[in-house]
Amino acid sequence: MTVLLVFGLFVVIATAHNITFLDVPRYGDPHREANLVCHYVNDKNDPELHSVKWYRGSNEIFRFTPEQQPPTRIFNTTSGGGVTRGSCNLHSCTISVVLPKTYNTRLSFTCEVSTEGPRFAVVKQTKNLTVAVILREDPVILGLPGIVQPGEDVILNCTTGLAMPPANIIWYIDGKPERMEPWMVNNTSVSLPNEFDLRSSWRSLHLRVNPHTPAISVRCEATQPTWPAYIRSTNASLIVARTPHLSMFTASGSISTAVEVSVAVLASCLSSVHIFSKYSALSEV
Ligand SMILES: *[C@@H]1O[C@H](CO)[C@@H](O)[C@H](O)[C@H]1NC(C)=O
Ligand SMILES: *[C@@H]1O[C@H](CO)[C@@H](O)[C@H](O)[C@H]1NC(C)=O
Ligand SMILES: *[C@@H]1O[C@H](CO)[C@@H](O)[C@H](O)[C@H]1NC(C)=O
Ligand SMILES: *[C@@H]1O[C@H](CO)[C@@H](O)[C@H](O)[C@H]1NC(C)=O
Ligand SMILES: *[C@@H]1O[C@H](CO)[C@@H](O)[C@H](O)[C@H]1NC(C)=O
Ligand SMILES: *[C@@H]1O[C@H](CO)[C@@H](O)[C@H](O)[C@H]1NC(C)=O
Ligand SMILES: *[C@@H]1O[C@H](CO)[C@@H](O)[C@H](O)[C@H]1NC(C)=O
Repeated sequence: MTVLLVFGLFVVIATAHNITFLDVPRYGDPHREANLVCHYVNDKNDPELHSVKWYRGSNEIFRFTPEQQPPTRIFNTTSGGGVTRGSCNLHSCTISVVLPKTYNTRLSFTCEVSTEGPRFAVVKQTKNLTVAVILREDPVILGLPGIVQPGEDVILNCTTGLAMPPANIIWYIDGKPERMEPWMVNNTSVSLPNEFDLRSSWRSLHLRVNPHTPAISVRCEATQPTWPAYIRSTNASLIVARTPHLSMFTASGSISTAVEVSVAVLASCLSSVHIFSKYSALSEV
């Protein structure tokens, strides 16, 4: 669809190539080369492709000129963001670049496509790449009891996978951020770096179950302080057990097997571990 539209426009303009997609990842892992791809099209009435140039910032790092020998040239390989190889044709141009090892470095890459004379019309597009190893998975909430007792103290632990820069974690209870004292801000614990300098983060949440709600929703939000920030989160809910009224369980005549099982589980929980906490303080911590 897009290509057809672009060709349609070129019937009218008929002077330049057009960049249809500039594929520059938003985040780049410094342990790997990043692959950048520039896709372009022209109309059959257009002049030939003259050159494709890649820039990092304002420095040219790669040039493809199909009419010249050799058709590709690499510039400035030594500075961070240098090109190791490139592969181009009349429709796309792919380069592999080495990224600097400094996290949160932001690089801007520009693809510039020019058309043969007489006008040498030029089109270009720029995108940014931030050096970071982003979280591959949502954070994990450990210690979820599923069903909690009114007034019970619950301790949850939210852990992230390996990333860099490490994520900061914020807990939300029923949509509101955990009440935090000033000293608790940025109090996320961060693991020691692994062999690739990646770290995981964790933060625990202590909460006392408000007996007046049927359920509590919690959310763990992990934010990597990159530009733009990279955020992943996980939701979970805690079901607050009703005070056990035996009549409630026996009243409904036709209970399915599944319900009987869950009632039995619930009842055994009530009668053992959690019974002591039923009458403790009511407020949420
Ligand atoms: C390139 O194509 C887009 C639509 O995909 C159009 O908006 C734009 O004007 C075109 N650019 C040039 C230089 O023709
Ligand atoms: C290579 O980089 C230097 C600075 O890092 C710059 O002065 C020079 O113009 C660049 N060369 C090209 C061909 O862009
Ligand atoms: C890229 O980064 C520059 C600053 O480094 C910013 O001015 C520009 O808006 C960014 N572009 C995009 C597309 O985010
Ligand atoms: C939370 O989990 C992490 C790893 O999963 C562990 O290292 C940490 O000790 C746990 N914290 C608490 C308070 O249990
Ligand atoms: C998690 O909960 C928030 C509100 O607290 C909601 O906006 C979001 O869509 C939920 N995410 C998922 C995956 O359910
Ligand atoms: C907490 O960390 C974030 C991201 O690193 C930072 O922007 C913010 O200023 C920090 N807040 C405090 C109070 O240190
Ligand atoms: C927050 O920081 C305080 C003081 O450094 C520490 O005692 C506490 O264990 C930390 N809590 C977490 C969850 O990291």
